[in-house]
Amino acid sequence: MEKTVQLYEGKAKKVYATDDENLVIVSYKDDATAFDGLKKGTILGKGVVNNRMSNYLMQLLEKNGVPTHFVEELNDRETLVKKVKIVALEVIIRNISAGSFAKRFGVEEGIVFAEPTIEFSYKNDELHDPLMNSYHAVALGVATWAEIDRIKALAFKVNEVLKAYFLERNVKLVDFKLEFGRLPDGTIVLADEISPDTCRFWDAVTNEKLDKDRFRRDLGNVEGAYSEMMRRVFGE
Ligand code: TMP
Repeated sequence: MEKTVQLYEGKAKKVYATDDENLVIVSYKDDATAFDGLKKGTILGKGVVNNRMSNYLMQLLEKNGVPTHFVEELNDRETLVKKVKIVALEVIIRNISAGSFAKRFGVEEGIVFAEPTIEFSYKNDELHDPLMNSYHAVALGVATWAEIDRIKALAFKVNEVLKAYFLERNVKLVDFKLEFGRLPDGTIVLADEISPDTCRFWDAVTNEKLDKDRFRRDLGNVEGAYSEMMRRVFGE
């Protein structure tokens, strides 16, 4: 399948049309942003890590009953996926306190929750992705109740599968962000990516951060963290 016209350029990826109206090609960049694009940089090799890791995890999730947009990895940076209409919600699951949760509630990072939490943000950079509850989402027509129930069930299933998967690789899955899309028939599928850009990964023994927080917080060795996560997943 070949790329035709570019449909969209986001902060970390480009999306191209193909000859099949139901399929698009996603191309992962090394560009990194944080704080709604205020902080900009490059993480060398990130596009390859995120593409390959996300594809691997989406296939693992498919095997575990989570429908995804994944179709075929075309090369190190490009993947053929089903074209979806993205539901304008960032779906965040947390197993351990960190980031905006710790800040919002005035607690330290590292509190292990008895049960995972879920929250939604409205996907809108200009408004800084404000927290949105399910009633707000339904009121504004962002999603229906049936879609919200399905998204919640799928997100918790993703957490169950990935938490166990990463723990076997000596990594704590602290929290992560998912996006879902609608196929033309309305089916909800997991879309976007699952990568060190969208998850917090801590080494299970040392709690060393192995994700984009190294870039967000200027912790150094950003590329090293991405390649370490590649090694944990692919053994390379
Ligand atoms: P937060 O603690 O900043 O709300 O982030 C929660 C999780 O979501 C964390 O794993 C990083 C991820 N995330 C994104 O993927 N995109 C974003 O724009 C933000 C703010 C967080």
